[in-house]
Amino acid sequence: MSVRFPVWMNVLPTLGAIGGAVGLIVVIGVVTTYFTPKYWEVGYMPTQPGSGFSHQIHAGKLGLDCRYCHTNVEKSAEANIPPVSTCMGCHTDGMLSPTYDPAEKVEFIRTAWTADESIPWARIHKLPDYVRNFPHHAHINAGVSCYSCHGQIEAMPVVYQAEALSMSWCLDCHRGVGQAMHGDADPSQYLVPKDKVTELEWVETVWHGEGEGQRAAASAVLAGIRQAPPENCGACHY
Ligand code: HEC
Ligand code: HEC
Ligand code: HEC
Ligand code: HEC
Ligand code: HEC
Repeated sequence: MSVRFPVWMNVLPTLGAIGGAVGLIVVIGVVTTYFTPKYWEVGYMPTQPGSGFSHQIHAGKLGLDCRYCHTNVEKSAEANIPPVSTCMGCHTDGMLSPTYDPAEKVEFIRTAWTADESIPWARIHKLPDYVRNFPHHAHINAGVSCYSCHGQIEAMPVVYQAEALSMSWCLDCHRGVGQAMHGDADPSQYLVPKDKVTELEWVETVWHGEGEGQRAAASAVLAGIRQAPPENCGACHY
């Protein structure tokens, strides 16, 4: 593993030479910011542009499927953020009633659209550079729900990081699924039927004990996984 220092770190010796209190404070500020990336922390919830985007309204109340916007999530490693055109499918002036489309709340969408710019959404979940491209599609197609890794998104007015995304967190599930393949663990805490991966309310209900028979369903999903999830370093690191 290597830690790469950004180019601007080259100014550190110069600042040190100035030696003044101001320089020192800048150095401390810079180093603290660089070495404690807030985006790896559970609960991380950056401020979003405009009036933001509510998953509680769109995915919860309106019931839009995750893949309506995150169109690539089961096809590629990367889960894409939708372009402004996806929003304009509904938020074009006059399309929704003004009660549901209050100008002051959706103006930032139309402004971006008119200017042909994207909305600068703040990134929330981000693995460090020394971890290989995280494969969304492999997980979704194996029956791992978004809920396992992102929490109850359908209830979030503003998305925050619900899970640690640490190495031991990844490996806990990988080991658990491996053990379940040998009959030594219950697969239903890790896997759901493929058609339920984006139905987070269903998943939450099942996992809170109201889903009789889910173990049999998860065992059927497990049977479709040919290789145990990897635990070797090279699978996740360069
Ligand atoms: C109508 C479009 C839309 C739908 C439907 C939708 N999302 Fe999103 N999603 C977005 C947009 C826009 C963002 C970026 C703004 C934000 O983070 O709130 C986003 C961000 C996210 C993020 C955070 C990304 C990051 O920066 O780490 C996650 C996780 C996520 N969505 C999961 C889901 C899940 C799970 C569902 C289904 C239950 C879903 N989304 C449904 C549009 C959508
Ligand atoms: C399928 C139609 C649809 C799509 C696509 C859609 N919206 Fe909406 N949006 C709605 C509806 C309907 C409401 C009003 C819901 C309500 O208030 O109950 C709404 C409400 C909103 C609001 C006001 C929320 C509030 O706080 O009252 C914002 C902001 C918004 N949407 C942003 C977005 C953004 C950004 C996108 C694209 C990532 C998007 N919408 C995509 C249908 C849509
Ligand atoms: C096994 C865990 C896991 C599952 C399942 C999962 N994600 Fe993620 N998701 C992650 C991780 C880890 C990241 C950060 C990836 C990175 O930094 O490379 C992420 C990032 C994202 C992002 C941000 C992408 C970006 O470029 O800003 C979105 C959006 C997202 N996930 C949506 C979803 C949706 C929708 C689902 C379900 C259909 C889902 N995820 C299922 C772990 C998961
Ligand atoms: C809740 C369970 C769960 C979590 C959490 C999880 N994984 Fe996985 N992962 C799986 C399963 C199940 C597979 C097996 C997919 C298959 O072989 O079909 C898998 C497979 C993989 C693969 C191999 C993909 C392939 O193409 O064969 C990689 C790489 C991987 N996971 C990385 C990660 C990383 C990195 C994290 C943490 C950020 C993580 N996983 C978290 C369940 C999980
Ligand atoms: C399933 C995926 C996965 C596997 C397999 C894996 N790692 Fe990691 N590793 C990660 C993730 C994700 C992180 C980033 C954790 C974070 O951001 O806190 C990480 C972080 C690290 C770090 C940085 C320090 C730390 O603990 O955060 C080291 C060193 C490391 N891994 C070494 C290894 C070695 C050695 C192996 C093989 C024995 C291995 N990893 C196997 C996913 C994996």
